[in-house]
Amino acid sequence: MADLSRRDMLISGTTLGALGALGMASPAQAASQSDGWTWPASGSVAGSGSGADPRWVWDDVADPLLASLFDRGLIPEVNRLLYDWNRNDQPLPAGLPEDLRAFIEQARQLPSWVDPAKLNAGARFHVLKGNYIVVLTIVGAGMLATAIPKEARSVYYSAGGADLKDRVAKTNILAYAVRPQNAWSAGGTAVVEAVKTRLVHAAVRHLLQSSPHWSGPIPISQEDMLVTWHTLATYSMRGMREWNVRISSAESTGYLQSLQVMGHMLGIRDEFLPATWDSSYAQSDIVLPRNMGPTSEGVELNAILRNMLAELTSPGSIDKPLVNAFSRYLTGNQVADWNGIPRQPLLDPVVKAAWPLLVRFREGLIGLPLVPATAWLLDEMIKKWTTYYLTRGAQTKIVIPTGNRPG
Ligand code: HEM
Repeated sequence: MADLSRRDMLISGTTLGALGALGMASPAQAASQSDGWTWPASGSVAGSGSGADPRWVWDDVADPLLASLFDRGLIPEVNRLLYDWNRNDQPLPAGLPEDLRAFIEQARQLPSWVDPAKLNAGARFHVLKGNYIVVLTIVGAGMLATAIPKEARSVYYSAGGADLKDRVAKTNILAYAVRPQNAWSAGGTAVVEAVKTRLVHAAVRHLLQSSPHWSGPIPISQEDMLVTWHTLATYSMRGMREWNVRISSAESTGYLQSLQVMGHMLGIRDEFLPATWDSSYAQSDIVLPRNMGPTSEGVELNAILRNMLAELTSPGSIDKPLVNAFSRYLTGNQVADWNGIPRQPLLDPVVKAAWPLLVRFREGLIGLPLVPATAWLLDEMIKKWTTYYLTRGAQTKIVIPTGNRPG
């Protein structure tokens, strides 16, 4: 039986695109820097906090280390040495600089609060609901990311911005690594990919400060990390709740745990990581609205993303209207407009009506005759995306960028 309380319904808002408070968001540029940090650390995984404001906290340990590796000209050698470091239980290669080795040995330790039973439930959930998770955390979250100015601009002006296809494939390595039963234990790869990503983020913080296109605070603050974390965690849980996906309470807790572990391993402090879905919803409603809005870079990146999705849907012929309509449905009108997604007057309402019915059918809540024909077009499209995103992870590797986007 779906664990769907009235409270969850209220928290999740009435439409998926509303994303709770996001429906009332003002563009991020308008957010005041003087707004205090009001989310209570008592709702965090740590249970208490230092009082720090996550907008002004980055990664105290990885950032100076990466800056020093750049100064010493060691990044290409580090990339070469770490290239074949893949499994969680694999010893580090010989020859790494001592300070980096010490950092990784520490960073690869799982937090003391990890509960293997919860992680197992989370992994089962990934198997059971993999298609919805792909739709929400890869397609939907990708669409949200381009409407987060700091994220869109940092992706655009960093090295990966020049080849978004490769960038997406690299990001999928982590998405792929966190799914299996042994993701975080011996034989799995999530610890390695998360630690590599933490190094990449520290490198981006170092590099972007010298980009002529970058202005403002150092990128990828703890708040920025939380924003992205919510586009994966909170957004996907709200989406599945909205669609009446059957989720037991063990699955819901397990899914949260897998995302908490990922956040911790990427360097988000425990004092900022939500302990429960309720505290997660509350934090999301604080950080998302003030960090979202339009940018020309986001519009450009979003168009590339939709082209990639259209190409997957029907190679050769660009089936954009359906992709546009589904993207608009997944993120709501405001975000879709910020992203420059063209309206599809005929398809937009049809997709909005058809998708929830398809999910209800898949969840055994309604019979086949109630599913409209368009739903099967969507079904076909999602199957192609899921196959691609669930299998493509192994073809590339996460490496530390050595420079910004050229030009
Ligand atoms: C790189 C995931 C937050 C900007 C990466 C990579 C992964 C990843 C897997 C490695 C792939 C690659 O090298 O391209 C995540 C996750 C996050 C998060 C799971 C939060 C939970 C952020 C935020 C920003 C950001 C908040 C910016 C505001 C970047 C950039 C790169 C990167 C610019 C490097 C692109 C390049 O190679 O040039 N991220 N990220 N990330 N991330 Fe994140």
